[in-house]
Amino acid sequence: MATESADIAEKGLRVAVVVGSTRSGRFAPVVADWLLGHLGARGDMTADLIDLVETPLPTTFPSFGGELEPGAAELLAAVTPRLEAADAFVVVTPEYNHSFPAPLKNAIDWHNSQWHGKPVGFVSYGGLSGGLRAVEQLRVVLAELNAMTIRNTVSFHGAAQCFDADGKPLDPAADAAGKTMLDQLAWWAEALRDARRLRPFAA
Ligand SMILES: Cc1cc2nc3c(=O)[nH]c(=O)nc-3n(C[C@H](O)[C@H](O)[C@H](O)COP(=O)(O)O)c2cc1C
Repeated sequence: MATESADIAEKGLRVAVVVGSTRSGRFAPVVADWLLGHLGARGDMTADLIDLVETPLPTTFPSFGGELEPGAAELLAAVTPRLEAADAFVVVTPEYNHSFPAPLKNAIDWHNSQWHGKPVGFVSYGGLSGGLRAVEQLRVVLAELNAMTIRNTVSFHGAAQCFDADGKPLDPAADAAGKTMLDQLAWWAEALRDARRLRPFAA
């Protein structure tokens, strides 16, 4: 246990930040950078940014038991081991038509065991909704993958008007909400990491 505590203190919980929007001219980097700032300021977590623009995934699935299409394995190799290594996830998602973007669903669907028994927090943004409906739909999807979604979220309503020119939220409540969400994520990440070590997750 002492070794494990030292490990957490030294390296931190590994948090994969998955950015759901790949749209040209997307607002996502403003939100993701704000979150990465919070993660960087913590002593208990290290972040791995998984930006689906930088590491796109194939969009054609093979038949059951069939071969991947040419090039697919290489694309997956840039993402899958990082999801596998993560102790926890934060999904940064906008809302598109009352749900979350298709590239995010694609990234979720390419994986399965990588989500098992791990916590997922959310930072959402959008128009009036602030992405809340996207988050509620993600909870349903991630439950199917045996992930544990965190209750408290951060949502930016009318996102383009929520940040100053330096990418700082105008409302300090956002920073407080971010801290609460990450504190809850850390609790679950440690508890579930301990549990998975004690008894490997069996789906
Ligand atoms: C296809 C599309 C559908 C959208 N649907 C919604 C919606 O249902 N609710 C909402 O609040 N905002 C909606 N928006 C606004 C986006 O959430 C908002 O522009 C957000 O900044 C988009 O994220 P992105 O710029 O990182 O792609 C939609 C935007 C797009 C492009």
